Amino acid sequence: MKHIGVIGCGTMGLGIAQVAASNNHSVFIYDSFPSAIDKARINLNKTLQTLFDKEKISKEKWDQIIANITWCIDLNEFKNCEFVIEAIVENYSIKKTVFENLSQIVSDTCIIASNTSSLSITSLASCVKNPKRFIGVHFFNPAPVMPLVEIIPGIQTEENSLTLSKQLIASWKKEIVVAKDTPGFIVNRIARPYYGEAIRIYEENLASKEYIDQTMKKLGGFKMGPFELMDFIGHDVNYAVTESVWTAFYFEPKYKPSLSQKRLVEAAYLGRKSGRGFYNYEDVSHESKDIELDLEKSTMIFERIICMLIHEAADALYLEIASKEDIETAMCKGVNYPKGLLHWADEIGIEKCVSILNYYYNLYHEERYRCSAILQMMAKSKITFFNHNVSVCL
Ligand SMILES: NC(=O)c1ccc[n+]([C@@H]2O[C@H](COP(=O)([O-])OP(=O)(O)OC[C@H]3O[C@@H](n4cnc5c(N)ncnc54)[C@H](O)[C@@H]3O)[C@@H](O)[C@H]2O)c1
Repeated sequence: MKHIGVIGCGTMGLGIAQVAASNNHSVFIYDSFPSAIDKARINLNKTLQTLFDKEKISKEKWDQIIANITWCIDLNEFKNCEFVIEAIVENYSIKKTVFENLSQIVSDTCIIASNTSSLSITSLASCVKNPKRFIGVHFFNPAPVMPLVEIIPGIQTEENSLTLSKQLIASWKKEIVVAKDTPGFIVNRIARPYYGEAIRIYEENLASKEYIDQTMKKLGGFKMGPFELMDFIGHDVNYAVTESVWTAFYFEPKYKPSLSQKRLVEAAYLGRKSGRGFYNYEDVSHESKDIELDLEKSTMIFERIICMLIHEAADALYLEIASKEDIETAMCKGVNYPKGLLHWADEIGIEKCVSILNYYYNLYHEERYRCSAILQMMAKSKITFFNHNVSVCL
């Protein structure tokens, strides 16, 4: 495939266009707002300047990337594109209108992909002329840097479209995982407890946010604690993902958003980008403060959060959202977890994970803590994720 179309030249669209252009594709990028195109051109040049200054690209490569990109103000310029990735505002009706128009312009063999984080691929596919050629390709931010891409076939997507999409994205040197079309796909679903359980512990006043952050870094080896990470992602984005996953799963209690985070969004305390979130970035004192951890208390916090994450990963496997290997890759490459959660489960011991989850279930009598069937069956049969064939216990 030579001609690639990108719709939307905001954060994600521009990043994806840069990736495709760097890999020698002829890229057509369209945005309905001319001012967004002007801004994107400036931003791309700034990015390439930085890469050049760091000696990551040559002047020839810089020129080549620019020459590979055609900035479009008319979607009709996409008529020869063989693969189009949409990265516009996260809104069903706006995306659907764009897809309806696009599918009148491109050929029936063109693959149309959406970079949506939370919308149903099956639903978006229903509004194009040839839904068999529609698919989800979910890049992570920043697209040129993050190695992971989740590929999500809708129920209408034909096998060949999946194969071609995998080949194309792999040729861009990305790690690919395939996910079932379910809310949050792999990463945004499995990662929810890292934020939600940490906030719950904080709301219950069992530990401070600083204490929880340092516990997860020191005992778990996470690069950022949950509160630092939420501040980094931005509470508008992180809260919206939680709310959307919770709503899309018919208000599943495991994913329930928190009032503490909602209040931050209401106050426009969005995290690093607005100077204040859980932490106040005008006062940097929290960053240097090294808290002495009480091993018993920290172990309790770490095990509670990690077991909730393991429970999500195990459930995703049980419900065939993705393969064992893809679940591990997704969490290590998409959100930089220090190790895969299923390996972590084996290391901690499945029986121990089950007993920790059962402890919280008995304590709170809340659905949120019910233990995944797969973990219970594995504990009973004394098998692990990686030394046994898990299906024998099911
Ligand atoms: N930002 C992230 O971290 C991230 C990560 C993965 C996926 N996504 C998904 O990628 C998509 C884009 O997100 P973003 O952060 O790049 O948004 P953004 O706001 O930075 O950019 C969206 C762009 O779409 C343009 N646009 C809006 N309506 C349009 C239309 N009708 N036709 C053409 N262009 C239109 C806007 O002018 C803007 O330039 C969303 O679906 C989002 O869920 C975002």
